[in-house]
Amino acid sequence: MATPATDIDFYAESTIADPVSAYAAMLALGPVVWLEKNGLYAICGHNAVVQVLRDHQRFISGKGVSVNDNINQLLIGSTLNSDPPQHDVTRKITFEPLSSKKVVLVRERIEKESKYIVDKMLSQPEFDAAAELAPYLPLTIVRDLVGLGDYGKDNMLDWGAATFELMGDAKERHDDAINRLKRLREFLEDPATLDNLSPDGWAQRATALGIENGIKPERAAELMRDYIPPSLDTTISAIGYGIKLFAENPEQWNKLRDNRKLMRNAIEEIVRLNTPIRAFTRYVTEDINIAGIDLSANSRVLVVYGAANRDPQRFDKPDTFDIERRVVGHVGFGQGVHACLGMNLARLEMSCLFNELADRVKRFEMVAPAVQAVNSTIHSLASLPVKAVLE
Ligand code: HEM
Repeated sequence: MATPATDIDFYAESTIADPVSAYAAMLALGPVVWLEKNGLYAICGHNAVVQVLRDHQRFISGKGVSVNDNINQLLIGSTLNSDPPQHDVTRKITFEPLSSKKVVLVRERIEKESKYIVDKMLSQPEFDAAAELAPYLPLTIVRDLVGLGDYGKDNMLDWGAATFELMGDAKERHDDAINRLKRLREFLEDPATLDNLSPDGWAQRATALGIENGIKPERAAELMRDYIPPSLDTTISAIGYGIKLFAENPEQWNKLRDNRKLMRNAIEEIVRLNTPIRAFTRYVTEDINIAGIDLSANSRVLVVYGAANRDPQRFDKPDTFDIERRVVGHVGFGQGVHACLGMNLARLEMSCLFNELADRVKRFEMVAPAVQAVNSTIHSLASLPVKAVLE
């Protein structure tokens, strides 16, 4: 079968600005598409993406999930960039406080912070839902729970964005991101970091458990990589896009306000449509045919979560925001052994914040065009000026 090919550059600023058109163009060609500019196959169809994510032996993460092999050398070894059995050891350690049973223990704290930020935003005639509202909760909550010293706390957002930038292949943004990531590595390798961890924080707990499980002390601090880079921009993106979707679809906001039982499904629908992580890669360990296309051993494939979540073969009217749709099976949080470790926390943060807003805001009106943020991996907004119309 001839391979469908496209000249879409997945990491060009034009694609980052409008990934949805790129997803549609790729899906129109087929579930697996050759990206000429990036020199790799993109897995786009929902079935094909699920097949790849669930086959962690033939599509491995242990050689890194960035598109760039030099960068992978910096990232290999974290839970995200490893395979079972090593993956399962670190995941078990870092997942415990994020399990559905444990995460509810921080609900009250998240509700209190949600009220604080919503009060602050609604006291202004207009606010920026992407730059001012969306970062507050993820940053405040994760920062406190992880329990880093001041230097680490103040740099978390920057390190997170740099890590996601490096998952892509945009040469012009690369050097800056490498320097920022080097600072994260220096921080993790600095013995003072361990001394400054808060005794009851997640980082301290994971480090101690890591050492108990035979991880060398100088590597154990790296376990906190599970909490820092992946927890911020992802949730910030979902909150910002959530407000945009509700501003553009006021009838969906009314439905949610009238029936809060729809909250969980609404959150999944936001994550499906927005898909904060556009794509990661997998390394192929043996020749395999996916959706009629032969993939060679020792090649890398791009797994495009964003395209799979808009595949018309899987989701009826995929571009429509419908908080009542049957959204189960979306891949916005991944699937298989690497499915998102922090999804319970992300859902809780979103649900507390949207609940607080739904109590008080009749509708959102966009007062200026939204501005897309530029990042190779995260699909997020830099700015979303809105006015909240109150009861
Ligand atoms: C809306 C918010 C979030 C989204 C959309 C999201 C998305 C994802 C996706 C798609 C993956 C799968 C990666 C793969 O297939 O290789 C993933 C994995 C992961 N996420 Fe999230 N994430 C979110 C929030 C969080 C939070 C809050 C944390 C931490 C507190 C977190 C920590 C992780 C970690 C450590 C992994 C790697 C898990 C593994 O390899 O076993 N994420 N996330």
